[in-house]
Amino acid sequence: MSTTTTDATFSQLPWREVVIGSSALLLVGSYLLMPEQADAIGYMLRVTARIAFAFLLLAYVARPLVVLTGYGRWLVRQRRYLGLAMALAHTVHFGYVVAFFVSSGEPLEWITIVFGGLAFVLMWSMAATSNNASVRRLGKSWKRLHAFGLHYLWLIFMQSFVGRVFVDDPDMIYLLLSIAGLAALVLRIAAYFVSRRTA
Ligand code: HEM
Repeated sequence: MSTTTTDATFSQLPWREVVIGSSALLLVGSYLLMPEQADAIGYMLRVTARIAFAFLLLAYVARPLVVLTGYGRWLVRQRRYLGLAMALAHTVHFGYVVAFFVSSGEPLEWITIVFGGLAFVLMWSMAATSNNASVRRLGKSWKRLHAFGLHYLWLIFMQSFVGRVFVDDPDMIYLLLSIAGLAALVLRIAAYFVSRRTA
């Protein structure tokens, strides 16, 4: 089979179903693989946040990768679905957040409601406008919403992960997740300066 035929077959795959379906599969798989002694809500809060972060980072680095290396156009074309896959995982996070506070009776601080709540509102607005009709109707506002939302969500993830690095006896996973997030930011900054120079 020639490379061109392989490329055509690859691009014809139902990527929307593949990308969003993989988020759903990861969620169901993690639920089924829950360790027996785990506190279910805490485990699912961590799993859902980490799956959502992985999809967010892929969408976050897609364009910078193309600008810096010339590779990754395929990833750019899947950004809409990566965003929807992230929203699916993080909507499940929201469900577990509600379950956590209802079952534990712990007080919810106003700062978490405001900043965490804004993140969910932005994420759902982005998901609801991830279609061609909204892109046409909203014009520049669409770009502003999606650019601001993407960076804001990145920031909320990073403050959660970095905050868990600077505790007594930290779990190394938080250091790795923080480094991944920072590396993605460095890529975006580098791509920004490269595009300005070549514009
Ligand atoms: C009102 C909003 C939110 C509340 C009340 C909330 C609550 C929680 C709780 C209780 C945990 C578990 C903490 C633990 O096990 O130590 C958690 C984990 C986490 N949440 Fe949320 N969350 C909210 C929104 C968000 C948003 C918007 C994001 C990201 C954009 C996010 C990202 C995370 C991350 C990264 C973790 C840690 C996951 C890990 O341990 O690997 N949360 N959240």
